[in-house]
Amino acid sequence: ERPDALPRDLEGRHVVVSAGGTREALDPVRFLGNRSSGRQGWALARVAAQRGARVTLVAGHTADLAAPAAVDVVPAGTAAAMEAAVRAAAADADVVVMAAAVADFRPIATAADKIKRGGDEPAPLRLAQNPDILAGLVHDSPRPGQVVVGFAAETGDADGDVLHHGRAKLARKGCDLLVVNAVGDGKAFETLDNAGWLLARDGGEEELPMGSKALLASRIWDAVTPRLP
Ligand code: CTP
Ligand code: CA
Repeated sequence: ERPDALPRDLEGRHVVVSAGGTREALDPVRFLGNRSSGRQGWALARVAAQRGARVTLVAGHTADLAAPAAVDVVPAGTAAAMEAAVRAAAADADVVVMAAAVADFRPIATAADKIKRGGDEPAPLRLAQNPDILAGLVHDSPRPGQVVVGFAAETGDADGDVLHHGRAKLARKGCDLLVVNAVGDGKAFETLDNAGWLLARDGGEEELPMGSKALLASRIWDAVTPRLP
């Protein structure tokens, strides 16, 4: 879609988008991380700005992406930094979209010095749970009427298919909208196209057909704007 063909339906709104992956340091050179490129979150931020919003992009680690035009970028490389940045920006936000891939766990401690190979059996990694930023936002609802959007990258397994896991996650998180992507087999991560389902807390379910991440972003904003007070 051409920017000048987009509606200006986010004018006067502040939207917060988190994007990219967090890295949880093991030592000065090593981390636990993930494959998130940040591209879907970047597209959400860019399209929101084109539709008139004031945009805060809380940016984790990404592929080599340039900052989108007319967007405030707040770098946040770890789950803890991302939680602080999202919380601060969410205080006056109309919409928060958690597109970031937040590490669920972090090493229980970060070694000050580089961990050496040594001669013995490697020590097992001890991990601590990171805060669930999305669930925390929904729980504390810092602003009445704020629309909170989550993402879920799912694979089917013995317990059920992608949609089954998406519905369960929506119920667990309590956010207004959940974008569910199928992952694995080269889908979603490190790709330019995306597809999935948009699930709403009020029961609405919409399929998002395969298309560019910008097109998917437009469909997501189309679902958000009618929910704004
Ligand atoms: N999320 C978050 N904070 C975390 C982990 C995830 O805010 N510590 C957000 C993500 O940004 C995403 C949503 O929660 O919007 C779902 O993330 P996901 O990893 O699918 O959910 P989890 O509850 O961590 O479930 P899973 O065990 O499947 O990883
Ligand atoms: Ca997770």
